[in-house]
Amino acid sequence: KRDLITVIGACNVDLITYVSRFPKPGETIRGVTHKKGFGGKGANQAVQAAKLGASVHMISKLGQDVYASETRSNFTKSGVDHTKVFTCADPEIPSGLAPITVETSTGQNSIVIIGGANDELTVEEIESCREIIRRSSWLVVQLEIPQEMSLQAMRIASEEKTKVLFNPAPGVSELSQEFFTLSDLVVLNETELELITQKKVTNSQEAKQVAPYLIHSLSTKAAVVTLGSEGAFYISKEENFSVEGVKVDQVVDTTGAGDSFIGSLVYFLFVGTDIRRALQMSNQIAALSVQSKGTQSSYPDRSVLKSLQ
Ligand code: RIB
Ligand code: NA
Repeated sequence: KRDLITVIGACNVDLITYVSRFPKPGETIRGVTHKKGFGGKGANQAVQAAKLGASVHMISKLGQDVYASETRSNFTKSGVDHTKVFTCADPEIPSGLAPITVETSTGQNSIVIIGGANDELTVEEIESCREIIRRSSWLVVQLEIPQEMSLQAMRIASEEKTKVLFNPAPGVSELSQEFFTLSDLVVLNETELELITQKKVTNSQEAKQVAPYLIHSLSTKAAVVTLGSEGAFYISKEENFSVEGVKVDQVVDTTGAGDSFIGSLVYFLFVGTDIRRALQMSNQIAALSVQSKGTQSSYPDRSVLKSLQ
């Protein structure tokens, strides 16, 4: 019986500074306000899926610092099982940290990630998660932990016939093709598409032209290119279609909106929603998340499900 979703990836504490404009190199400016929250692409996706009602296990690693215990309480509060969130034996290695700057006029962000404990996951620890992966209908993977660890989990998923949703974020230009052949669904934005294919992607039109490369040259089964306010584009060997974007009047903070989308998407696929409908509803949930501050703290819970169009 497959009654879980497993997410492997990073846990970070997000230290978000809101500014009226980004500082220039060498410049000191006054910020508007500050918010501390829980982030990391993997953790965000896990929390979003759990908030919507899925049973979610997280595979990750924390340090021995105060951020580690805060992150565990946050997982408990959000309904994410963290028994496979390991602790670094070395007390000197900190939990993952993400200093983030958000421009208040646009809601745009810039993010620095310090991997810390996230970079310390081992093959043995991942192997110890085989049973959980076997019980999952989906394994969700990003690129915030060492690539070999992500691949290791994907290989286990493939052996255990668990489907893999791969989100190649943050984007990198050189990635083993194994990531694509082991994926059932690749979800990426335009920047990540450009980096992976090494082809120019500056707008949604170009994204749709480049996306087939993922299927034909990288042998991915299916892919979703997220296009921000313009929605998303789905492509597989059999079909391709677009889903419309959602208009948002006031964008407050886009941090983690992509993760809200992915956590929602895997939730909807987990409960058996067809892909087109799943994409439409995930778009609406991510659109809600950009209308309030912070990462996980801005993610809608299952009470919004009945109001989705
Ligand atoms: O995708 C947003 C996330 O990227 C933030 O939560 C930050 O921690 C970084 O991992
Ligand atoms: Na937000």
